[in-house]
Amino acid sequence: MLVAQDGLEVRQELLQRLTEARGRTDELFDIVKPDAIYERPIPERHRIVFYLGHLEAFDWNLMGERLLGAKGFHPEFDKLFNFGIDPVGGGLPSDKPEDWPAVAEVREYARRVRENLDAGLEGVLSSDARSGAPHEFSASQLLNVAIEHRLMHAETLTYMLHQLPLDRKISKRRGPELVSGRVEPKLVEISGGSATLGLARADTAFGWDNEYEANTVAVPAFAIDSHKVTNGRYLEFIAAGGYDNRVLWNDADWNWKTEKGISHPVFWKRMNDQWYYRTMFDEVALPLEWPVYVSHAEASAYARWSGKSLPSEAQWHRAAYGTRDGAERPYPWGVEAPAAKLGNFDFHRWDPTSVGAFPAGRSAFGVADMLGNGWEWTSSLFAPFPGFEPFPFYRGYSADFFDGKHFVMKGGSSRTAACMLRRSFRNWFQPHYQYVYAGFRCVAH
Ligand code: AVJ
Ligand code: FE
Repeated sequence: MLVAQDGLEVRQELLQRLTEARGRTDELFDIVKPDAIYERPIPERHRIVFYLGHLEAFDWNLMGERLLGAKGFHPEFDKLFNFGIDPVGGGLPSDKPEDWPAVAEVREYARRVRENLDAGLEGVLSSDARSGAPHEFSASQLLNVAIEHRLMHAETLTYMLHQLPLDRKISKRRGPELVSGRVEPKLVEISGGSATLGLARADTAFGWDNEYEANTVAVPAFAIDSHKVTNGRYLEFIAAGGYDNRVLWNDADWNWKTEKGISHPVFWKRMNDQWYYRTMFDEVALPLEWPVYVSHAEASAYARWSGKSLPSEAQWHRAAYGTRDGAERPYPWGVEAPAAKLGNFDFHRWDPTSVGAFPAGRSAFGVADMLGNGWEWTSSLFAPFPGFEPFPFYRGYSADFFDGKHFVMKGGSSRTAACMLRRSFRNWFQPHYQYVYAGFRCVAH
């Protein structure tokens, strides 16, 4: 691909989107009270201050030299803030607040990165300075990577700040409340057919390395829950002793649960013999009609308890995008771009809504809430599709996680940007990670 392939308009729109994405992450750091910026709300992850630097170092390391031919002005920070840590293996990080630079220094670094990138990118856009030189990437591809990387962090940072005690946060206005009646979940029959996973390289849309190549798989008939499993349903599993029933858990999941002393979802809290739910800025009586958010291990135990299982990635695709006549849709509801009436996504709310609150977003088979209101765990290990090639400019983005220890999540949460609701987008986490806005629904055969 050549830089010259990107139209000027396309690249200008991308710059606009980068600016908007910066607004999304800036607003998150505004939530953190100044004395909490060195906190580590999730023991497995970096301190908050790391992300302040990471988002900018990432953009700089990706585009500074490749697109602008510029040398770094702060190589030490470029390196320090280059990589996040995945919560897998080894012990927990043990760094201390004083191991990190002063916030003012990090903010100054961030300011300069943006200033340099913006000035340079404008130049690249107007003069098309590097057109003609062959590259293994295009300017628009790098900009998309920067935008979506930042938007993904806008979500992962939110669930990190979710774990920060309420008195360390400045509360933001809550999103529109949605009142909807109690739904009676049922099993929806999905006829056998095919599901197209992934994205064709010939497609001009942006996709991450793990989305290629497109591949079509045959999916035998199955039945799937019409709605995500709710807190109310999950409470029945707890009441039935699900967390203490050895046969419902595999060895690794049981050991994890036992060692950590886990007996309920991390978003729940037991107080005065009552269940409460820790929302982003509040504590409320447990909303029984909201989807439950749990780790893959807890989701799997529930599925086994109910005599069902988690859907495979292909089954999830078929239920979301398939139709009885064999055609496949770009979105569960059809071809329309994501809009607020179609699901709880794209930053309209901080927290979930009741399940079934978006009837207009249902799939052709009538399955509700496939996109938004919480990611959904699948039974599929995160692995490359046939024809996978790592991005030459970011080889480890996916490949580092093809380790048999991460599971695919599909769908999206209230904090997932609309651009990542495309059919081929794949998310992944390891099975003992409880902090994600992720729940599940079950399948029966
Ligand atoms: C795709 C959300 C699993 O947060 O670990 C951010 C995204 N990768 N920076 C993660 C990511 C590098 C990734 N997930
Ligand atoms: Fe990152």
